[in-house]
Amino acid sequence: MTKPTLNILLASPRGFCAGVDRAIQIVEVALQRYGAPVYVRHEIVHNRYVVQGLEAKGAIFVEELDEVPDGRPVVFSAHGVPKSIPAEAENRKLMYVDATCPLVSKVHREAERHFADGRQIILIGHAGHPEVVGTMGQLPPGAVLLVESEEDVRTVQVDDPLNLAFVTQTTLSVDDTVQIVAALKARFPAIAGPRKEDICYATTNRQTAVKAIAEKADAILVLGAPNSSNSMRLVEVAAKHGCVNSMLVQRATQIDWSMMDKVKVLGITAGASAPDILVQEVIEACRERYDVQIEEVVTAVENITFKLPRGLAAE
Ligand code: F3S
Repeated sequence: MTKPTLNILLASPRGFCAGVDRAIQIVEVALQRYGAPVYVRHEIVHNRYVVQGLEAKGAIFVEELDEVPDGRPVVFSAHGVPKSIPAEAENRKLMYVDATCPLVSKVHREAERHFADGRQIILIGHAGHPEVVGTMGQLPPGAVLLVESEEDVRTVQVDDPLNLAFVTQTTLSVDDTVQIVAALKARFPAIAGPRKEDICYATTNRQTAVKAIAEKADAILVLGAPNSSNSMRLVEVAAKHGCVNSMLVQRATQIDWSMMDKVKVLGITAGASAPDILVQEVIEACRERYDVQIEEVVTAVENITFKLPRGLAAE
């Protein structure tokens, strides 16, 4: 029996960013250097496939430092940690390696600089996300206020409207953040901040790429995890830019093939923490059912890499 045709539009860039790549390498190098087990505080990146792969090599994932036994090394995840965490590790004389993405660390330094200049900081981000917890935890309580929406901007209570700065989470929706920043500037004209926001190159590029396929696709699959902020934003951005039939899947096994009945053009992308092997798995699952034609839609070429932390880099 002949298979129906399915055109796949593959967004590019998609999948792993330089910060995720570096964080995974840090755990792998730590395992080689110190032997198993190496403890990792929080999922190193928000992807079960990646976490399970590292567990198989001897990594043990925990949520808090008190779950790490004395004498074993611990790695902090790519999302960043409050200052209290390395302080606690030092107190316990634990060997730790910080896998915080350098672009998240940059936001931490920005917030510290504003604080040193006497400003209160408004962080645009999602409550409870580890990156937000980490950024707020760079400074004493009250120094950083969180806003999640334009509505929050209208109601946030600040100490001095003339001494304010804003920073942002790195994995937000570019378009929504433009609106929130505009609302902040309208209410607090003297607010200091970055030229646009602190959304990283990888988040920006993946959103631009998914927009480019959203108008042409009947459905879009985003490979990623529900707790991955940048993956969830890709689903929303695709939906807002012409493809309401946009879904998050963690693996090919989660695809609801019944919803594919009327789909002639399928868009595929992946969040910054999802490895390309999962995209290939989805393409293979499509090939079993369809005669697949693939077109890669390239909106940017990335060649960014980050060095490993000193001490872990090859000697
Ligand atoms: Fe870093 Fe952006 Fe990736 S902040 S971890 S490069 S999604």
